[in-house]
Amino acid sequence: MSKQTKIRRITAPEIAARKGKEPIVSLTSYHAHTAAIVEQHADFILVGDSLGMVMHGMENTLGVSMELMIVHGQAVVRGTKRALIVVDMPFGSYEESPEVAFRNAARIMKETQCGAVKLEGGQSMAETIRFLTERGIPVMGHTGLTPQSTHVMGGFKTQGRDEDTWPELIADAKAVEEAGAFASVLEGVVEPLARKITEEISIPTIGIGASAACDGQILVLEDMLGLSDWVPKFVKVYGSLGPMIEEAVKSYADEVKSRAFPGEDQVYR
Ligand code: KIV
Repeated sequence: MSKQTKIRRITAPEIAARKGKEPIVSLTSYHAHTAAIVEQHADFILVGDSLGMVMHGMENTLGVSMELMIVHGQAVVRGTKRALIVVDMPFGSYEESPEVAFRNAARIMKETQCGAVKLEGGQSMAETIRFLTERGIPVMGHTGLTPQSTHVMGGFKTQGRDEDTWPELIADAKAVEEAGAFASVLEGVVEPLARKITEEISIPTIGIGASAACDGQILVLEDMLGLSDWVPKFVKVYGSLGPMIEEAVKSYADEVKSRAFPGEDQVYR
């Protein structure tokens, strides 16, 4: 019998146990090959509904369907072995009732084999988060700026600039924690509020546009790689994939036009 070392995936409880310890590294990824690269350095990969914008050219995340989340979730799970894969519940798939949320979350988990789901909302979603976690579905919360509520919020606005809004935002984060979420994304909130929430809740906060005061960070992969034509102000761009792709396509087009393709050593004779 051959001895095989099976690589074990990071679990939701392991992410929860990282509270206050080594920062949690996370990125989004939407297809198998980038996910395989990302997981070499990330603790968890989010198949986020931002895929509607960065992969499918949508204006916001509201048009993303369950089917789209499942197809991309399956690709990312297939491409990875080690990272925890978290799949976003799309707009309209969980808000109606805890029962509807369970049905859709269970479908996502069954069909993708991901390790957890994420949903947006604080106090208003606490009952649903509890319903899911008590029935075997690990849930990551998402409070602060919640893109699926863009029409109610009046756009993508930084949260907590006015201190009067802090109690509500803190109550949202606590509600998610108390409902049993294993971690929670904190998006687009001012640094002192992010720090306060991170200090006051017992689960890891995963910041995006919420400063280094959080327990971990997440960015949208296409944004940090320099592939998006616009990125939010808080995004540090670590690569320049857009210009690199354009350059490669241009070289190819120039060669095709001058009949300098394929290279001599690539020709079947
Ligand atoms: O969909 C997404 O990319 C997200 C991140 C912004 C956290 O939810």
